[in-house]
Amino acid sequence: MKVVWITGASSGIGEALTHQFVQAGWGVVAFARRAERLRVLSARYPQQVLPVVGDVTQVADCVAAVEAAVKHFGTLHAVIANAGISMRALLEEAQEEVLRQVMEVNFWGAVRTVRAALPLVKANQGWIVGVSSIAGFRGLPARSAYSASKFALNGFLESLRVELLPAGVKVLIAAPGFTKSEIRQKALTASGAFQAESPLNEDQLMSAEAVAKAIYRAMHRGQKYLVLTREGRLVRWLNYLAPGWIDKVLYKRFAAEAGSPLR
Ligand SMILES: NC(=O)c1ccc[n+]([C@@H]2O[C@H](COP(=O)([O-])OP(=O)(O)OC[C@H]3O[C@@H](n4cnc5c(N)ncnc54)[C@H](OP(=O)(O)O)[C@@H]3O)[C@@H](O)[C@H]2O)c1
Repeated sequence: MKVVWITGASSGIGEALTHQFVQAGWGVVAFARRAERLRVLSARYPQQVLPVVGDVTQVADCVAAVEAAVKHFGTLHAVIANAGISMRALLEEAQEEVLRQVMEVNFWGAVRTVRAALPLVKANQGWIVGVSSIAGFRGLPARSAYSASKFALNGFLESLRVELLPAGVKVLIAAPGFTKSEIRQKALTASGAFQAESPLNEDQLMSAEAVAKAIYRAMHRGQKYLVLTREGRLVRWLNYLAPGWIDKVLYKRFAAEAGSPLR
């Protein structure tokens, strides 16, 4: 049985990835802070899901997850650095701690996760997957730290992909577009409080299950990048062709959101 460690498995894309890999016959180390959510997942798939409660901001938790994988499943073939948080605030209004927290989870959390898993993934010539975002290819207004964290993640993973060429490790940068999940409710505002309500109609967004399926397929095809939603792909390419025009389109689009800090 192949084994994957998925961070942020307690909701949204990470939870959907857990179902996807279980259905494909993999063992899953399901990692997040909310123990009860993980317990429900492992109760549903007792043979295949190992719940590990942990925080990607803590290196000891990441190391412990890999140790638990070895103890329970014997090894690890793939790691998916998916845990992430968002923010919505103007730079001039956001507390520095908000900006740091987003980088700490999205960028440094992924670095800690990948470093802990690397020896086993290398030994198995396996996969490293980072769940990035369209915001990792095109900066978004009122998401400066979020965009920065995803640009940093992309650079980190691209460097690693080349570094690991001789080791035969496959590295995938997966960039979802807007996806139904809890991310917008949990997004940090300028003060560091949760945004609580999503400014989008979540039911109209891509499903986390469709994202998980696309990531699984892209991994097995050996893709280097996966950019999701037609809107996301369009924004990425138009940014190369007409960056000034896209600036104005994005400003208008994000200023129109309910409760937007843009004026
Ligand atoms: N939804 C979108 O529109 C969208 C678009 C592009 C990219 N993404 C990316 O997709 C990834 C998953 O997000 P999602 O949309 O599925 O959001 P979500 O439903 O809020 O899930 C986020 C997951 O990350 C975990 N997490 C947060 N902080 C953590 C920490 N310090 N340590 C360990 N786990 C932590 C959460 O679990 P606990 O709270 O239980 O720890 C949760 O399982 C993120 O990297 C996000 O940036 C999402």
